[in-house]
Amino acid sequence: MHIVFYLLVFLLASEGLSLSDQGGEGIITLNYPPDLTVMELGLLSVSLNVPKGSVDSIKVGVNLEEEILKIVPDSEFECFSVHLEVGINIVSITAIKNRKKIDNIVFRVFLRSDLVSKYRKPPPEFKKDYFHSKDRSQCIACHTLKLGKLDKRPVNIGAFERESIPGDMERIGATSTCFSCHKSVTSYKYVHGPVAVWSCLFCHDPETEPVYSVKKPDTEVCFSCHVEQKNEWVNSKYIHGPLTMGNCSICHNPHASDNLFNLIKPSWDLCINCHEGQATGRHIIVGLYNEGHPTHGVLDPLRKGKELTCASCHNPHASNYPKLWAMNVRSQFELCMKCHKY
Ligand code: HEC
Ligand code: HEC
Ligand code: HEC
Ligand code: HEC
Ligand code: HEC
Ligand code: HEC
Ligand code: HEC
Ligand code: HEC
Repeated sequence: MHIVFYLLVFLLASEGLSLSDQGGEGIITLNYPPDLTVMELGLLSVSLNVPKGSVDSIKVGVNLEEEILKIVPDSEFECFSVHLEVGINIVSITAIKNRKKIDNIVFRVFLRSDLVSKYRKPPPEFKKDYFHSKDRSQCIACHTLKLGKLDKRPVNIGAFERESIPGDMERIGATSTCFSCHKSVTSYKYVHGPVAVWSCLFCHDPETEPVYSVKKPDTEVCFSCHVEQKNEWVNSKYIHGPLTMGNCSICHNPHASDNLFNLIKPSWDLCINCHEGQATGRHIIVGLYNEGHPTHGVLDPLRKGKELTCASCHNPHASNYPKLWAMNVRSQFELCMKCHKY
């Protein structure tokens, strides 16, 4: 199946096969996105035109998955969103009438990632499409793009917990200009504070070009609220590689994710992504023990109920101790003694 997929990617990406008209029969029209768009995070908004009564249902598939979504159209416009995988994604939309496929459109989207070197840059035929920098009068028949006061509500990091109740998210969302189109950004297990209260404009500046750009490096926005972390990390003796470049989003999704701490991948996988050599845990007890020290899959004796991970011993951000020790220890032996009372 994988071979078939890459063959398809290759065929679609090669110049001989132009899909600029999306190859459809003209029953379904794709309003958004254009073919060959580049995305930054894992969600894609799709908007279709479907003439009334022309189809019974619409099947949506991503990357050869036959059906991830089935829609029974109830209006001329159908809007939905799908999750993307890193790299090239092929989205296929099929119209069904009387159990027969009567139309099919296919388009490609590239999900960029700083974490994986081969996906850092999109292939040359893929381009960014800045939705909000173009005229979207077609959409405002049903949606509003006019900003409201609540789109940048103050976020009190100290007193946050109470606001983060999931039930509230929908209610607060309904007061946001961004909600009607971007409601899926909160459809994950862990939602980042300001996103949970739909304070989108805290990070997305409506006065920039392209509109809603986020200041770079990330530390410019992240540290405006995470002052405690800033003070601690900036003044540490050792700072972790990715942080020295001010890049927080390489590890954290700024909106939401299915992993603790809004991590882009589960903690251990994230570390291994850049430090493959440490996966065996042999680096911890070199020469002492051939099997290596466990680095996951057992409980952390110092953090109740949490799994032991790389972050049990190393601080992922910064530390005053060499090797980014997570604890106040001056030597490797002292580190061992934190968990092992021989
Ligand atoms: C005819 C009315 C109409 C028009 C025109 C329209 N939309 Fe929608 N859109 C809706 C409705 C209604 C919903 C909410 C659907 C729901 O709650 O499931 C929606 C939801 C959405 C969503 C959220 C989908 C999701 O489930 O995550 C996106 C994204 C979206 N629209 C984008 C657009 C874009 C882009 C345009 C212009 C190209 C557009 N819409 C034009 C009616 C419309
Ligand atoms: C009419 C529907 C609609 C509304 C309302 C809307 N957006 Fe979007 N927005 C989109 C679509 C479609 C995209 C394309 C990317 C995607 O698939 O999510 C997009 C993209 C973006 C991007 C990426 C840059 C770009 O221009 O492509 C940002 C940032 C963004 N929206 C922020 C916001 C914020 C903040 C609000 C509320 C103030 C908002 N949007 C309201 C539909 C909408
Ligand atoms: C803590 C800061 C922060 C907040 C709050 C925030 N965003 Fe973002 N958002 C980002 C960053 C960082 C990016 C990546 C921008 C880039 O690299 O171009 C981004 C990207 C996006 C994109 C483009 C995704 C893509 O794949 O290209 C959309 C759409 C978006 N944000 C919508 C929203 C909406 C809607 C809200 C409010 C619920 C929101 N954001 C709140 C930081 C934030
Ligand atoms: C508008 C203020 C604000 C900004 C800007 C902001 N955060 Fe947060 N962040 C919060 C709040 C509020 C919480 C929730 C605190 C709590 O639950 O006690 C939080 C929590 C977190 C957490 C912990 C999540 C957890 O599960 O415990 C991480 C990680 C995080 N933020 C990363 C970032 C990153 C990375 C950026 C920059 C892209 C950023 N934050 C920008 C307000 C902000
Ligand atoms: C190399 C990956 C990586 C980078 C880069 C990174 N983080 Fe983290 N972050 C993590 C991990 C892993 C955790 C969970 C640590 C744990 O298990 O205790 C975390 C936890 C957090 C927390 C919650 C716990 C705490 O320490 O307060 C916040 C807030 C946070 N990060 C913010 C940021 C900000 C802001 C930046 C950018 C300045 C950043 N992170 C950069 C990996 C990273
Ligand atoms: C995006 C890539 C990336 C990710 C993800 C990443 N690191 Fe690193 N790490 C680096 C770079 C770059 C350096 C500095 C160069 C070096 O020493 O290899 C570094 C260095 C280190 C060091 C050595 C510091 C020293 O003083 O020798 C430790 C320990 C470390 N990382 C632990 C972690 C842990 C734990 C995680 C997961 C939470 C993690 N790293 C995730 C890129 C990454
Ligand atoms: C039980 C504690 C512990 C755990 C868990 C742990 N490490 Fe280490 N780590 C160490 C020790 C001890 C050293 C110092 C080794 C040395 O100097 O010979 C170290 C050194 C490192 C270094 C510096 C490079 C080097 O060898 O000097 C990196 C990078 C690193 N660890 C990454 C990781 C990653 C990634 C994980 C998760 C797969 C991890 N560590 C899990 C204790 C730990
Ligand atoms: C954060 C806590 C922690 C630290 C720090 C730590 N260990 Fe461990 N260690 C563990 C856990 C948990 C196990 C697994 C125990 C089990 O399987 O029940 C373990 C197991 C071991 C084992 C037995 C291996 C096995 O598979 O049973 C040895 C040997 C060991 N550690 C040595 C060390 C040394 C040497 C250091 C210092 C470089 C160290 N540990 C630091 C938590 C830690």
